[in-house]
Order: sequence, then C-alpha cells, then structure tokens
Amino acid sequence: MSKTTGVILAAGKGVRMRSRLAKVLHPVAGIPMISHVVSAAQSSGIDRLVVVVGHGREQVVKAMSAETIQFVVQEEQLGTGHALLQAEAAAEDSELIIVLCGDTPLLRAQTLEKLIRFHRDNQASATVLTAELENPEGYGRIIRDDQGDIVRIVEEKDATPQEREIREINSGIYCFDREVFRILKNLNPDNAQGEYYLTDVLLEYRKNGRRVLALLAAQEEDIYGINDRAQLAFAERILRQRKCLEVMLSGVTILDPATTFIDAQVKIGSDTTILPFTMIEGQTVIGENCVIGPGARIISSRIGDRVTIDNSKIIESQVGDGCDIGPYAYLRPGTELHQDVKVGDFVEVKKSVVGSGSKIPHLAYVGDATIGCHVNVGAGTITCNYDGEKKHPTIIEDGAFIGSNTNLVAPVRIGEKAVTGAGSTITRDVPPFSLGVERAPQKVIDNWRHRKKKHNDE
Ligand code: UD1
Ligand code: MG
Repeated sequence: MSKTTGVILAAGKGVRMRSRLAKVLHPVAGIPMISHVVSAAQSSGIDRLVVVVGHGREQVVKAMSAETIQFVVQEEQLGTGHALLQAEAAAEDSELIIVLCGDTPLLRAQTLEKLIRFHRDNQASATVLTAELENPEGYGRIIRDDQGDIVRIVEEKDATPQEREIREINSGIYCFDREVFRILKNLNPDNAQGEYYLTDVLLEYRKNGRRVLALLAAQEEDIYGINDRAQLAFAERILRQRKCLEVMLSGVTILDPATTFIDAQVKIGSDTTILPFTMIEGQTVIGENCVIGPGARIISSRIGDRVTIDNSKIIESQVGDGCDIGPYAYLRPGTELHQDVKVGDFVEVKKSVVGSGSKIPHLAYVGDATIGCHVNVGAGTITCNYDGEKKHPTIIEDGAFIGSNTNLVAPVRIGEKAVTGAGSTITRDVPPFSLGVERAPQKVIDNWRHRKKKHNDE
C-alpha cells in the first residue's frame, strides 16, 4: 500500500492562552499537547508526519526536534486551507492525506484508525470526521442532504440561524486523496473571515463527481480543542483519568485515582500500589511490588522492585530493588541507590552512589559521595562538599560507620570498616579499620548545680 501522510495544523496563534509559550507546547500529562496528537497518529499507522508551523515556530521546532516529524512553515496564517497547502511538497508521494490539529491532545488512535478504515473501505476521496455535540457553538456545522450524504460544511460565522441549530459538527480531522492539493490552489477567501477554508474543498470534490463522506464517530473528548487554560486543565483531568485506568487495568493498585497524577510516558510494574497524593512524572519507570506514596513525587527516575517511597521527592535518580525511602527524603539528580538501601526521614542525597545494604536513616546531607556497601551513616551527618567555589567528592568504603553529627569535609576518604566518632569534623582521610575522632575533651564540673544554687542564693 502506498504511503499515508498526516498533516498536523499548528500555525495558529492561540491568543487565548495568554502565554509566551506556543499553544501546542503547553504540557498535558507531562508532554506537549501536540505530542499526544503525534503519538495517536503514529500508533494509528500513519507513515509520515508533517507539522505546519507559523506562530512560535522556532519554539515548536526546537521542542519537537527528537520526534520523527517534518516541519513546514506557513508564513502568514491565511486559513486552514492555506495551511494544508504548505504540506504539498512534503506529502508528495502519498496516496492518503490525514489532516489533524495540534491542539487536540485527547484524540485517540482508535478513532483515527476508524476514520482511515472507513475512508479506504468506501473508496472515498474525502472523509470528514464528525461528532454530535450538546453545544456545537464555535464549530463548523455538517450540512447533509435528504439521503443523509454530506453536502458541505458551514462555519458558524457564515451560518444561517437554521444551520446553527445543527448539532453535528466538523472535528477538523479529515482524510483526503492527493487531489486535495490541486483543489486547494483554486480556493477563494470570500467568506465572513476572509480566510482560505479547508472545509470548502468538499464542495469542489462533489462538483468533480468524487465521493465525499462524513463519519460520525468522534466522541466529544476526541476532538476537544484547547484554546485557554481552563480547557487545558480539563484535558489534563481526562488524560490523567485515562492513564490511571490503563495503569490499574495492567495490574497496579491505585487507592485514589482522583489524587494520583501519572504522566503519559510513565511505566509501572504489576502489584505495585500507589497511595494518594502522588505524582509520577516524566519518563519514570517503577518496578513490581512497590508501595509508592502517600505524598510521593517522582520525576524521570528508575525505581526497582519491592521499593517503598513514603512522602518523598525523587528527581532523575535510580533506586534499586528493595530500597526504603522516606518519609520526607529528597533524592536529587544523579543519585543512584543500589539494592536494599535505606534513606530515611529528612535525608537529602545529591549526585551520589550508595552501595547495597547501606543505611542513611535520618537527618543527613550526602552530596557528591560514593558510599560502599553496608555503610551506616549516622543522624546529622553532612558531607561538606562545597567550598564556595568548587564541589569535592567524599568516598566512604564498605562497612564504614559514620558517627552521628559527623562533618565530612571533602575531598575526604573513609576507609573500609573505619569509624568516625560522633560530632567529629573530619578533614583528613581515615584509613581502613581505624577510628577518626575530632572533638575537644569533655570537661566535667562536679556538683555544678549545687554550686550554682549557692551562688544565686547569696
Ligand atoms: C476549524 C474548521 C471548523 C471545525 C473546527 C474544529 C475551517 C474553516 N473550519 O475552525 O469547521 O469545526 O476547526 O476545531 O477549517 N491553522 C493554521 N493556519 C491557519 C489557520 C489555522 O495552521 O492559517 C491551524 C490552527 O493552529 C489550528 C487549526 O488550524 O490548529 C484550526 O484552526 P482554527 O482557526 O482553530 O479553526 P476553527 O475556526 O476552529
Ligand atoms: Mg479552533
């Protein structure tokens, strides 16, 4: 079968977003809204994608550079028909052109597949995807004849009062054969908005005796276009519900989907339980049999199996099997915990590797450190990694014991099974099996309370 090209129209301004960010780049479920359209198109089997950019085009091209899509520029926004025409060269070898919009993040692949199948099975030249809406305001209305065949689409601004009563609307999603580009070149903009309307090609197709169809298959959600931030929040809610559902059906327990936010690209293993008020973002992957939350925020991290994460924040880190995190831990970028590590309450770890079985149970800061296996880091331990200019490394070898309230002034190395005395400020390396202790000898003043009382009474 010859090629299909999807053309995503995304040159419009999106004034109502009131934003410096191009409308189609506003994130929904953690990725730009246009990326949802791209992935629906890709999973429905469209071979090639072309995005028509205009307003904010540098931003859009930059943000989408990792995707396998091609960009064409519409210099002036003269209407949807003019926008599609810009993709002519890019779609040169395609038998089927599918038109999409960049601001409909709720579009599902299955809806697109249905449209493409219908168009092909009926050997149509043009097929419009339509929906029936309770409130059709703002959309183009579908005009059908007595046989029920679509005749044309009338824009709201050009519609008569009777036409406005029609509740079947144009989704803005279509299939066309290659003929569409020839027709687009002959459009004229004599309408209420003075634009080249893509919808006008239908009449021309019919004039030429070609088959034009309308498929009433879109659910309201599929075609829901984002124009302002209230609609953005609505789309966010729907996508979040869908993601929670997908995750639950794959074998994950979510106690309260209403307070659980899981980004589109997140993967979670079976028999993991997600407790309320949890956000799992970016490219995070979580293993099996974990308990995540309550109150966990995990961003672009890799979490193993059997991990518990309670009321903690984890960014761009790796957490091995069997680790126990929190409550109130903070793992910052570049943290790598091997198996069965405990990072407890009020512990911050940054850009550090912690070997298996090690414990940092409470109140510590560990930065730029390499910690071996079965190390115990006492409460109040601080790696003093920053001298005001540069960051320095701390190395703690296997089996070492860091006494409570130790300051480890980096660069410094604590050898295998070495011990630091509680309260020490360690500025020199401690060799393996040795004790490093640095504190003033304790003074004891006998009977001090009695002597003080006597002094006060005098
Ligand atoms: C369009 C349809 C309308 C349909 C509605 C569905 C036309 C004439 N009307 O109306 O029947 O019900 O979509 O949402 O097509 N764009 C460009 N370049 C332009 C103009 C628009 O790239 O010059 C892009 C926009 O960024 C947007 C899409 O095309 O992604 C639709 O444009 P918009 O102005 O929103 O069209 P509507 O008036 O909503
Ligand atoms: Mg619109």
